[in-house]
Amino acid sequence: MSPTIPEQLTELKNLFEREAENIFPEALPEAPALGEAMAYSYHAGGKRIRPILAIAAAKALGREPEAVVPAALAIEMIHTYSLIHDDLPAMDNDDFRRGKPTSHKKFGEALAILAGDGLLTEAFHIAATKLPGNIPPAGKLRFIKKLSFAAGIRGMVAGQVLDMEHPVEPGPAFLRDLHLRKTGAMIQISCITPALLWNTPENLYTALGNYGDKIGLLFQVVDDILDETATLAQLGKTPGKDREQHKLTYPAIYGIEGTEKLADSLLSQALAAVSEIPDPALLTGIARFIRERSH
Ligand code: IPE
Ligand code: IPE
Ligand code: MG
Ligand code: MG
Ligand code: MG
Repeated sequence: MSPTIPEQLTELKNLFEREAENIFPEALPEAPALGEAMAYSYHAGGKRIRPILAIAAAKALGREPEAVVPAALAIEMIHTYSLIHDDLPAMDNDDFRRGKPTSHKKFGEALAILAGDGLLTEAFHIAATKLPGNIPPAGKLRFIKKLSFAAGIRGMVAGQVLDMEHPVEPGPAFLRDLHLRKTGAMIQISCITPALLWNTPENLYTALGNYGDKIGLLFQVVDDILDETATLAQLGKTPGKDREQHKLTYPAIYGIEGTEKLADSLLSQALAAVSEIPDPALLTGIARFIRERSH
């Protein structure tokens, strides 16, 4: 019997973990405490949804999955840094992440900040040096340029600022922009990674970009729902924090029911976006997982 889609997605995750292990900087002789703090958060047990997306997109384009692993690792390291900083007392002030004490709880604020800095910087080193030689240099540059956009002052970092400082009566466009930047941008680049690395027909690049846009927004919409409805044991992070901290979320504006409807609509739009990709089964499976997940 051929493996089910969830089984295939688990295989992609295992492939990522196995291959990335050879690249992730395990021990740092220059600063062992820094290496330990970086590894603590990276290995804490994230879902790895961004690497899985990059690898699934590579397969959908008929590319070798192993080749995108350094790019997927760079994305996951940037994501991990963003979680460490997001949890700091100056930001969301959270005690648990990925089912463990947050970095600053375990190592103190200074080392947590520096572990984030280390993961971010090393991610770009890996993107610049570890992608295989048979990927065209122009493709590598395209990826690094887009990664800096998605992670930085036009993407995630800007989104985190909007999350902290929003207008008193934000409209739907502001809410959407906030979610797209703080979370959507890093999800979207995961989806288009293989299309950036290799020359890809315009229609497939656009399809993956649209898909990434929809599931990126969907991912944060569901994160906001779960913050209201799930438990610490399910999430590995403390629920109820958004309401407590008066965060601008979809449930806060539209209620849980309205937000569930929006999530359904985003899923349909994501599924429609990949309909012209030759073999979209893994991508549609991931979109469904993102909609239905409980962790
Ligand atoms: C959590 O991301 C932060 C958001 C962008 C909503 P994930 O839910 O992907 O967290 P991990 O990587 O599985 O821990
Ligand atoms: C965080 O959004 C997005 C990031 C860029 C880290 P949240 O603050 O909602 O993420 P969680 O709920 O703490 O994982
Ligand atoms: Mg936050
Ligand atoms: Mg947070
Ligand atoms: Mg959240």
